Amino acid sequence: MLVPMIDARCLKFMNLQDPFYHKQFSKTNPGRLWFTLKARWMEYSSKCRFLKCAIPLAAPVSDGIQVPDYPSSDTAVTPPQMRAILQALHATETVLGVVAEVGVYRGVTTAILATNTQRSYIAVDPYTGYGGSENDLELMKQRVGRLPNVTHLRMTSGLAVDQLDGAGVSFVFIDAVHDYVNAYFDGFVWGGRLSPGGMIAFHDTDAINFAGVQCAVWDLLSDTSLGFELYSHVEGTVILRKAL
Ligand SMILES: C[S@@+](CC[C@H](N)C(=O)[O-])C[C@H]1O[C@@H](n2cnc3c(N)ncnc32)[C@H](O)[C@@H]1O
Repeated sequence: MLVPMIDARCLKFMNLQDPFYHKQFSKTNPGRLWFTLKARWMEYSSKCRFLKCAIPLAAPVSDGIQVPDYPSSDTAVTPPQMRAILQALHATETVLGVVAEVGVYRGVTTAILATNTQRSYIAVDPYTGYGGSENDLELMKQRVGRLPNVTHLRMTSGLAVDQLDGAGVSFVFIDAVHDYVNAYFDGFVWGGRLSPGGMIAFHDTDAINFAGVQCAVWDLLSDTSLGFELYSHVEGTVILRKAL
């Protein structure tokens, strides 16, 4: 098997484009074709690098946080993952900035997190396929519509991050498209808005089917210029903290 050799600078250069930017063009557009080729290469490369990109497990701080009952059929987030996310949410309560979730689906995690913070909660999901339908949007509205601190931005991650203006981010949960180019892009742009001490959580990090997510998180964590440190890691969810 051909194992790709790509250094960190090359990776950063290749992955700073919003993957959804290219979808406005026809599938035969040369720029879109080139990006698709690159995205497929990054998936292949991630599968080759999967074992190298394994991030060590790191138990969340044990602070007695209870996970409420929730309909597990409407989310892939497991109770141990939800507990780790809730713990990080609590740990960032005094950090400046909004809370955000990128990829909301039926709003199960949104409802739990938003009721457990005093902060404004930005829920980002375009519901245009890629895992989210009009039916999912309706279920999300039923769950989340009554929560005063939640604002739904019906747009993609890259457009939503530009809506923040000067507002910082204290906690963000990345759970949208599970491939390398999207996970890296989402982690880079949202992670770049984190206040010192803020945290970014990634879902679906440890499965070979989502090797791109694991490698994207590994690459973000390994790039010391970005200032991330590992905060906690339970199977399937990695949480990074922006250094103080
Ligand atoms: C795995 S689900 C999210 C699950 C949710 N976080 C939870 O905890 O139950 C992925 C969602 O990402 C959304 N999505 C797809 N592309 C997106 C993008 N570019 N930006 C934001 N959300 C996106 C889909 O519409 C879908 O609802």
